[in-house]
Amino acid sequence: MKKKLVSLLTVSAMTMAMLAGCGNSATEAPAAETATETPAAETATEAPAAETAETAAEAVTETAGNADLADKKVGVCIYQFADNFMTLFRTELENYLVSQGFSKDNITIVDGANDQATQTNQIQNFITQGVDVLIINPVNSSSAATITDLVVGADIPLVYINREPDADEEARWSANNWNVTYVGCDARQSGTMQGEIIVDLGQEKVDLNGDGKIQYIMIEGDPENVDAQYRTEFSVKALEDAGWTVECLDDEVGNWDQATAQQLVANALSANPETEVVFCNNDAMALGALQSIEAAGRKVGEDIYLVGVDALTEALEDVLAGTMTGTVFNDHIAQSHGAADAAINYITGAGNEYYIGCDYVKVTTDNAQSVLDSLK
Ligand code: GAL
Ligand code: CA
Repeated sequence: MKKKLVSLLTVSAMTMAMLAGCGNSATEAPAAETATETPAAETATEAPAAETAETAAEAVTETAGNADLADKKVGVCIYQFADNFMTLFRTELENYLVSQGFSKDNITIVDGANDQATQTNQIQNFITQGVDVLIINPVNSSSAATITDLVVGADIPLVYINREPDADEEARWSANNWNVTYVGCDARQSGTMQGEIIVDLGQEKVDLNGDGKIQYIMIEGDPENVDAQYRTEFSVKALEDAGWTVECLDDEVGNWDQATAQQLVANALSANPETEVVFCNNDAMALGALQSIEAAGRKVGEDIYLVGVDALTEALEDVLAGTMTGTVFNDHIAQSHGAADAAINYITGAGNEYYIGCDYVKVTTDNAQSVLDSLK
């Protein structure tokens, strides 16, 4: 009898967790687990073969201002223009390409409007136009194999950015010696850093109700994407690795979007006033969360903690003002320069490694000002 009761309770607890979405994401996503064991997903520091974005930058210094680039055509596909981080990325990418000798008229950047069919058409158009290189931020990472086949079939070199294709796909590039690479950071590192920012505060401070557990809510980006999967998983793992006990109160998909996150966090906070930490997979969503935290009369740093990723200017200002606990700098400068340099290396025939990594930077009140200054 007793045993039955226990299992019934377990089942209903599980059902509730599933309804809330807690524990129902990254940890169980097979794609994420496969990637964990593959060399392609290794962090930049651990992967000796992987060039860092900066090394790649040095390698092309000689070609800077190269007149040959002035008549080369670059096609750039962005998954969605209405994304704060990708807007910073594409602006920097275009400016840097021009500074390296490309003509502005020969750089075409298109908006996939978060629709893979639209983006696939755009890629086909670029192929018809005969661009010299393609830089692609896929709408769906799972469409990468199809995209690669199209582009490689047209004999055009390809640089993937921001949304990392899975390990099987990356393995095909080296196995076939294709001119295809990925430039980006390891999302696991950003998740770990988010968790560490919380751990560094000390459990006494974060466990506001003193029950020995950290009550948190998670706001995820597009779950099709490894950035969302890994940040969700590794932020919480950092707390557990520090020996802390965690309790997920809610886990929702905000699709990287501020307004969506604002609504989700408003609901989550009113249903779960005992929330101690709000993890957001990016800063846009953290800014939305902050609006709802303030609307609920809560105060970050006093009765709740909030972390994001990206280091958007507004988020850095919030970190300095104490209205955000911390963020993680997603270096769009190193990544966009790395992507442009890789494109140049294909055009000049220098070639590239199949994975070009970069590091995230943990941001708290201690260094937010210097990160802000470095972005001006
Ligand atoms: C992440 C970034 C998010 C969003 C996303 C798009 O790296 O942190 O803000 O831009 O990429 O895939
Ligand atoms: Ca607690």
